[in-house]
Amino acid sequence: MSLKGQATFFKSISRCFGVPFWGWAKYCAPMYQSYYGFTEMPFHITPDPKFLYLSETHQEALQHLKYGVTEKKGFIVLIGEVGCGKTTLCRKFMNELDPEHYDTALVLNPRVTETQMLKSILIELGVPEVARTKTDLVAQINQLLLERIARGREIVLIIDEAQNLSFEVFEQVRLLSNLETDKQKLLQIILMGQTELKDRLAAEELRQLRQRILVHYELRPFSRPEMDRYINHRLTVSGSMGRPHFTPWALRKIFSASRGIPRIINNLCDKSILSAFIRESDEVTYWDARRSARDLERLTD
Ligand SMILES: Nc1ncnc2c1ncn2[C@@H]1O[C@H](COP(=O)(O)OP(=O)(O)O)[C@@H](O)[C@H]1O
Ligand SMILES: [Mg+2]
Repeated sequence: MSLKGQATFFKSISRCFGVPFWGWAKYCAPMYQSYYGFTEMPFHITPDPKFLYLSETHQEALQHLKYGVTEKKGFIVLIGEVGCGKTTLCRKFMNELDPEHYDTALVLNPRVTETQMLKSILIELGVPEVARTKTDLVAQINQLLLERIARGREIVLIIDEAQNLSFEVFEQVRLLSNLETDKQKLLQIILMGQTELKDRLAAEELRQLRQRILVHYELRPFSRPEMDRYINHRLTVSGSMGRPHFTPWALRKIFSASRGIPRIINNLCDKSILSAFIRESDEVTYWDARRSARDLERLTD
């Protein structure tokens, strides 16, 4: 069956069974990819740095991370609403660090105890056998950092979703940041998290850690012109040759429904393209965007 034929088929069974057409999304999505000639799906929600669009705020955030690490500023904090691009930026940043010189430990799930945190840092740094007790783990990390620094390497610890750290684990991380030789700190630490991280860091218990934060940046959502460029950028990276085209009204609707947050933009664009595909149209209209926004509202109610 031709692509158009398959789309019409799903449309008619949707009508017969009263299933919303999103119900068939997982079957239609690969079809819209070949229908519009995309080499890959343009609005996937994985944090793939290949798709990175450096808006002003993303550029500034990246510069803060680079500056903090190269100038050995100790603690660096990156804050942003969920879906703003923190993890994507962090992957880009890690890809850009020279592997000849830097070792990185990325902790993605910080809902852990102090001992688990210390263990995951060692595992991330490629240590096959880790100690059992907290004291031994800290000694093992200290030893490892000294060895690596003696070999001319720098070590960067990145903790994503840091708003989930307990105060005890924050304190343990602060103690790690105390490890030093008489010349330099042994560890650069990047804390990334949602806006709750700001409140967490403002707590009295974290006063000492707060004083160590010399580099701090807060990501903003896209402005309307940035969102338009972002959408075009993702379409181009996916191999689009100008199809489909988003009308200005569609873009306007996507902006108001997403408030400029990349993850929501991706979701709305994906659904809107699917809707245009089902109409067998090269144009994503206001009505496609509105339908997607309503659908998303229904899911998040
Ligand atoms: N600057 C950007 N360029 C390209 N894609 C982005 C950008 N910012 C966010 N995204 C996309 O938005 C989605 C959410 O981004 P993510 O990094 O997971 O956000 P966060 O970690 O802040 O919750 C991902 O699909 C990602 O690809
Ligand atoms: Mg994230």
